[in-house]
Amino acid sequence: MDEIRQATYPISSMILNRWSPRSMTGERLEPQELMSLFEAARWAPSSSNNQPWIFIYAERDTSEWKLLFDLLVPFNQSWTVNAAALVVVVSKNTFYHNGKPARTHSFDTGAAWMALALEGTARGYVVHGMEGFDYEKARISLQIPDDYTVEAMVAIGKRAPKEKLSAELQNREKPSSRKPLEQIIMKGKFEKRIEQA
Ligand SMILES: Cc1cc2nc3c(=O)[nH]c(=O)nc-3n(C[C@H](O)[C@H](O)[C@H](O)COP(=O)(O)O)c2cc1C
Repeated sequence: MDEIRQATYPISSMILNRWSPRSMTGERLEPQELMSLFEAARWAPSSSNNQPWIFIYAERDTSEWKLLFDLLVPFNQSWTVNAAALVVVVSKNTFYHNGKPARTHSFDTGAAWMALALEGTARGYVVHGMEGFDYEKARISLQIPDDYTVEAMVAIGKRAPKEKLSAELQNREKPSSRKPLEQIIMKGKFEKRIEQA
């Protein structure tokens, strides 16, 4: 992992070592373990402490599983078939206390998902975000009201050796790198740069 992931400046290993594997054993998680991941999300910061996030989840081998699994594109189904839990992450577009638009609801919910991902990684689990699913179908099948945004799905499971995956996915079962730091920071104002044109 260290060959691919080199931090330019020292950071906590928890952040550098989080990545998104796909190989999972097909076992369920202890209910307490799964709840600890949602508990981590619960403590994320949000504007006015509005906590706009909702995690709609289904554990494998339960009646709800198919509802969430059927939302996924075939590619994501090919590997999440071995997940312990699937989650649809939803966020409320307005403040609970006054009904006004909550500008940062997606930003806040992104922070909550990251807390969940970090907690899961620290416990040795796969926590893998997904955009590859039918957003409209999710709204209808899961009865999500109009004033909530469907943000993303997450697969959670017990890590398995990469050999459990198809040959194509085995090649992709490794941590990815990142843009150089200089490309994501700008001093004082937005700078027009060739690489972002
Ligand atoms: C919101 C979101 C959506 C994603 N959608 C998918 C997806 O549909 N299928 C998939 O296999 N990976 C998906 N990924 C995984 C990303 O490709 C992965 O996070 C990215 O390449 C960075 O790699 P890393 O998480 O291993 O550091 C998604 C990740 C996020 C955060």
